[in-house]
Amino acid sequence: MEFDLTGKDYERAYSLLASLVCPRPIAWVTSMNENSTINAAPFSFFNVVGDSPPMVMFCPGDREDGTPKDTARNIRRSGEFVVNLIDETLAESMVRTSAALPYGVSEVDAENLMTTPSRSIAVPRITAAAAALECVLHEILEIGQNRIVLGIVKRIQVKDEFVNPSSMRIKGFYPLGRMASPDWYCRTNEPFEIVRPRWNRG
Ligand SMILES: Cc1cc2nc3c(=O)[nH]c(=O)nc-3n(C[C@H](O)[C@H](O)[C@H](O)COP(=O)(O)O)c2cc1C
Repeated sequence: MEFDLTGKDYERAYSLLASLVCPRPIAWVTSMNENSTINAAPFSFFNVVGDSPPMVMFCPGDREDGTPKDTARNIRRSGEFVVNLIDETLAESMVRTSAALPYGVSEVDAENLMTTPSRSIAVPRITAAAAALECVLHEILEIGQNRIVLGIVKRIQVKDEFVNPSSMRIKGFYPLGRMASPDWYCRTNEPFEIVRPRWNRG
């Protein structure tokens, strides 16, 4: 099959791309409004884009009424956010926080999630998350209807159980993966190793 996204299949772009480009990592983003209310919402148009500076991106779109989702609004205002990273144990809670609650109503409170203060920024992280990236906004790009939030990672918090104390590498963290739209996920707990050729490693 062939799909022409410049023409007749344009409307299929989301479901095709979101179901083919997967599994995707999930950013469970906490952000804060002007009243210090903590917002939490998941985003799977998300990835790390580089390490110098350490940088991530994610793409909060608009609500159905055409206004930016709360996460985007909060980040534009405060310039800070936390990317909480989770495994399957928090999957259902994470999905419930994707409910479109009115601006100023906290998904963190609705879901009884505990938060822990961050150390580099004012926005707290979700305590139960396996890891958290404390981020400051670098830039928001708007291309058509796409909104791309680029953030610099200032500090990383990882639960001790997921860090090998001798190598300081991550061990035993099996993040939840996002699969086909709208409601599919995957486990990542069967990793395997393929060693790269050493002579041209870059
Ligand atoms: C696993 C998952 C991934 C999602 N990824 C995105 C995404 O990449 N971009 C987006 O705009 N919405 C995404 N959503 C929907 C948002 O989470 C949802 O619109 C949420 O209400 C936004 O919350 P906010 O208005 O508090 O920012 C996703 C939902 C789920 C469950």
